[in-house]
Amino acid sequence: MNITGAENLIFGVEDIDACRRFCSLYGLKESQASEKLASFRALDGSGVELRPMDDPELPAAQVPGSTLRAAVWGVSARADLDAIAKELGKDRQIRWVDDVLQTTDDDNNGLFFRVTQRVPYDSALPLVNVPGRAAMRFNKRVDFDNHGPARQLGHVVYWSPDPARSVAFYKDRLGFRITDSYAGDMGIFARAAGHHDHHSLFFIKNPQIPPSFQHAEFTFGDIQDVIAGGHKLTRAGYQTLFGPGRFELGSNWYWYFVTPMGGAFELGADIDLVDDNWKPGVFEFPRGAAGWAMGINWDMTRG
Ligand SMILES: [Fe+2]
Repeated sequence: MNITGAENLIFGVEDIDACRRFCSLYGLKESQASEKLASFRALDGSGVELRPMDDPELPAAQVPGSTLRAAVWGVSARADLDAIAKELGKDRQIRWVDDVLQTTDDDNNGLFFRVTQRVPYDSALPLVNVPGRAAMRFNKRVDFDNHGPARQLGHVVYWSPDPARSVAFYKDRLGFRITDSYAGDMGIFARAAGHHDHHSLFFIKNPQIPPSFQHAEFTFGDIQDVIAGGHKLTRAGYQTLFGPGRFELGSNWYWYFVTPMGGAFELGADIDLVDDNWKPGVFEFPRGAAGWAMGINWDMTRG
């Protein structure tokens, strides 16, 4: 199917201006703004779309209030869209709006596909001094007030009553690869075949609430961006969901914030890159592979 990764997240929200403020401070660049629609982009063209929650064009919400209404996945070419439409048209509604294929996954999460609109960008290296290597930052202070921009949409995460069943749709029908799992069907990581982050999709078990959006991650240049961005959001009054820290599964630095879009946004950096030579493992949840974290506030987790 040549799926190249999640590249746009469409939210239905109660307060577009509150969401615009969050997205700007988080590190996304606004590309469009009106009362009915605001769009934000990372450097590679992936991004976020904000619409009023009563917009009739949006797929149904899975939970009350502001939440993700559809994840848009990129594919390499138009022929891939046609192949997906043929496959998924066997057992669910398919709708074409312009050149976007609109449908749902097995949990009824809005699932769209388009030919990728990702673009090359200036991928400047973070300036890090490592003894024994040529200096990258000389007579130059670190900027503590500004973090670098979001570079790419990395992954999208959903609550699921049964992660094994939820991910099977993506694996068996859309060619996703399982990269790691938690024992007891507590959570399963997967990646789109054409995207090499350790995970572009994660289902985490929660039988108490309907299947729905849990968090999304945009990837930044390095840990300095994660920490400086997290401090900026904290100073602006946003609440930490958990972090900062570093996961063992994926190795990504992280800091999660509660957002006005519903669910959380993660500032991420330095995730493992993998291909089909990667050996998936099974780990105890959550402590068997938690890495380390500061300031966990589990009470803030939704549901
Ligand atoms: Fe994440």
